[in-house]
Amino acid sequence: MRSPNHMTMRWNRKDLLGLRELSAEEIGFVLETTDAFKQVGTREIKKVPALRGRTLVNFFVEPSTRTRTSFELAAFRLSADVINISASTSSLTKGETLKDTARNLEALHADILVLRHSSAGAPQFLAQRLKSSVINAGDGAHEHPTQGLLDIYTIREKRGKIAGLNVAIVGDILFSRVARSNIFGLTKLGANVTLVGPSTLVPREFEKLGVKVSYKIDDVLPQADVVNLLRIQHERQRKEYFPGIGEYTTLFGLTKERAKLLKPECLVMHPGPINRGVEIDSEVADGLQSVILDQVTNGLAVRMAVLYLCGGIST
Ligand code: CP
Repeated sequence: MRSPNHMTMRWNRKDLLGLRELSAEEIGFVLETTDAFKQVGTREIKKVPALRGRTLVNFFVEPSTRTRTSFELAAFRLSADVINISASTSSLTKGETLKDTARNLEALHADILVLRHSSAGAPQFLAQRLKSSVINAGDGAHEHPTQGLLDIYTIREKRGKIAGLNVAIVGDILFSRVARSNIFGLTKLGANVTLVGPSTLVPREFEKLGVKVSYKIDDVLPQADVVNLLRIQHERQRKEYFPGIGEYTTLFGLTKERAKLLKPECLVMHPGPINRGVEIDSEVADGLQSVILDQVTNGLAVRMAVLYLCGGIST
């Protein structure tokens, strides 16, 4: 691996909790470190000893396919030991608190805790109380920093830059941690972000974060360099925010017809899981402009970089 030592910045964070608190320089440093780990993935032997002797606990209190698997694989590639815990198989089901669970994991010398939780703020709560590194793998509707980083990395890889690009994020913004991490990261790096969706799911308050809000997708798509589609997050919605799925698709879905409005070089992104035929047409999801599976591939290198940077800090 080409050592990130050629870079002058020093990384001083034991935790990664969100992109809101990272500077543009820190985000850039993670992206450069990711370049080095992506290169490792092209070798015949894809493993480095960077975290040998360290133990990572993958603690997922909400379901996950991509994030859990790629953190696990990233830890294997860095030679760390890995333990997976889910809510249903932990003593959370017997009434143990999250804090006690985490302190017991630390007593077993877990060095890095990767936490996905339905409550916003759960990773921050533990990070303040544990010596172990805490990596936020998605907390409620708050942030999903490694998803934001892998989205930004994929855009930079495909378009060569972030600054000045028009990025449309479409769908259920209100309940989306992915949207928030993308907004914080992309605006810091100079992208022009426009949020699109029903007014109930895209309140104008988001404009305070330095983005535009639009309720007319057909006006936004022709200008977009990137369109990032989001799933409707029924699991976090407490009431009906629009009349029905069919109406949502008609008004905001990236249908085959609507995809014709896109510039040929516009990237089509989605963090997954996809609801085919709802927020994105199945053929568009698999089409030439789609980089959805590249996002997944890049997630591995991004998570290697994050584990390497945070897991190497001792307090
Ligand atoms: N994008 C994402 O977080 O997917 P998973 O829920 O499968 O981890």
